[in-house]
Amino acid sequence: AFSTTGLQERVRALKKEMHAVILAHYYTLPEIQEVADIVGDSLALARAAETVDAEVIVFAGVYFMGETAKILNPSRTVLMPDRNAGCPLADSCPEEEFAEFRRRHPGAVAITYINSTAATKAQSDITCTSSNALSIVRQIPPDQPIIFGPDRNLGDYIARQLGRDIILWQGFCYVHEAYRADMMKTAQREHPGAELIAHPECRREVLELASFVGSTQALLDYTQKSPSEAFIVATEPGILYEMQRRSPGKTFIPAPRDMTNPRSVCTQMKQNTLEKLYRCMLERSPEITVPEPLLSAALKPIRRMLDMSA
Ligand code: 13P
Ligand code: SF4
Repeated sequence: AFSTTGLQERVRALKKEMHAVILAHYYTLPEIQEVADIVGDSLALARAAETVDAEVIVFAGVYFMGETAKILNPSRTVLMPDRNAGCPLADSCPEEEFAEFRRRHPGAVAITYINSTAATKAQSDITCTSSNALSIVRQIPPDQPIIFGPDRNLGDYIARQLGRDIILWQGFCYVHEAYRADMMKTAQREHPGAELIAHPECRREVLELASFVGSTQALLDYTQKSPSEAFIVATEPGILYEMQRRSPGKTFIPAPRDMTNPRSVCTQMKQNTLEKLYRCMLERSPEITVPEPLLSAALKPIRRMLDMSA
């Protein structure tokens, strides 16, 4: 077995040898973020995957992210450290059920959160991420009915921000759903002066207490801009690594979990270990493939999203 730094050196050497880039989501482990070429939120990583000219994209994230990278740049080899690192939110919205949801609301525009399977995306008109959801929905005429899935908290947040009705699929992210208002209030009492900031996948009762709501990237940027010295962060705590790196003098407190549901860490993101990252590069496996006609069908709503959020 190699040490962490030994493995990191090997990964960096392989990266050069293979003409590979490593893309990693902010929720992955610090030792993964350290060897990545690009660390970002879902939107930044999708954009990066589309434009990289490396032969191989190694994606440390969850399955729908690797799949989206392949859809956006099919001529590249896309590898993932663990192809079983799925997103339970995405998996809670099977394509047949989403298609049925759509049939129940004929005439509605169907928007899917990027946290969905390619097959479910293919059943929709436009995708969005938490970074561009508001701007995408703003571009839909006000009298046009909208169905949105799978994340009900993000959908509810958009509906309230824009003052319009959105018909919601009832999915949620177990990581963000675990935060509760009473726990946030306790944390605020324990850390007077610390600002509560939250991801829109959190429940409405948590968002109502937060002084700032935004995607992972927006939260990160906000902590740099805000004059506050301390933050209670209600999103997956992997982001604290980059927040602390960018603002070494500030204090970042992971929002407390609901102890009846103590799961505010995304275990799927943490399945991307350094060992598995090294092994997937060495063996060029697991490789992510998306067959036609699924690839083209899922590309359409993703492309529409990128065009609408240029
Ligand atoms: P963003 O990367 O858009 O903030 O989404 C959060 C998330 O849960 C990713 O799986
Ligand atoms: Fe899915 Fe939530 Fe994990 Fe993101 S944090 S990958 S939405 S389970």
